[in-house]
Amino acid sequence: MVLEPDMPPAVARSSPAAPTHPAVPGRAGSRARMADAADRPRARRRSGWTRLQLATHAAALAPAAHLAWDVWTDNLTANPIQDITARTGKTALVLLVAALAVTPLNTLFGWRRLIPLRRPLGVYAFLYALQHFLTFVWLDYGLDPVLLEEAIFEKKYALVGFGAFLILLPLAATSTAGWMRRLGKRWKRLHRLVYVAAVLVVVHFVWLVKADVREPLAYGAVVAALLALRVPRVREAVARRRLGSASRRTARGTPPPPPR
Ligand code: HEM
Repeated sequence: MVLEPDMPPAVARSSPAAPTHPAVPGRAGSRARMADAADRPRARRRSGWTRLQLATHAAALAPAAHLAWDVWTDNLTANPIQDITARTGKTALVLLVAALAVTPLNTLFGWRRLIPLRRPLGVYAFLYALQHFLTFVWLDYGLDPVLLEEAIFEKKYALVGFGAFLILLPLAATSTAGWMRRLGKRWKRLHRLVYVAAVLVVVHFVWLVKADVREPLAYGAVVAALLALRVPRVREAVARRRLGSASRRTARGTPPPPPR
């Protein structure tokens, strides 16, 4: 799942290392060489993962590694299936929210370096959701269709969870650059459904906790804020404020913050 409705497919594809300057003799040529030298570290970074990307992959894989370790060392709770279900569900939600936060954080603070993290975060969210779903249908219900039908259609929290999972499936399947190209504008519309999935997951969480709903409601508040930041008017107001403070800084002679 790419979860980047803003990004046109052409931008999303990694750009090939095209020659940036023609071989120009004289001053223009030396300026071009200097610019090339300044670009070199960036080009190197483009060929591999940045430290931020590495840290993101490590952080996203850590809960799976921790869970695998706990399964291996027999360190789960007295109800291991419930433990696995809760841990994978929580991680899926956290990663889903993190993926949704990328665009608003870029809008608010100009953190463009986060943009390439959106796709992996979305894909990891789906993989944990898949693990969560498989734990439920396989380990918990032994793939018994009758029991599963009862469980999913009689427990409303399971039904909305199932709805969220059904939305995440096609998003994950169409997360590749090839599908972005093939679907064109429809791709963006399809991937907006990720917000519906996030809302359903929050409802799923609210409905399954019995007493203290503070935690699921906190996730709900974050998802609502992220959704609000997608509203064009809110986004424009935020962008205007950012531009305003940048021009005030320039007028005062304060250098802008370093590019992130
Ligand atoms: C058919 C689909 C789903 C079913 C049947 C299902 C089932 C469950 C069950 C039984 C629990 C309770 C675990 C416990 O006893 O603590 C749970 C918790 C949870 N699920 Fe799902 N789930 C589904 C889909 C999803 C999806 C797609 C997500 C997220 C992307 C998700 C996120 C969560 C979260 C955040 C919790 C709470 C974890 C906690 O207690 O800390 N679920 N789910």
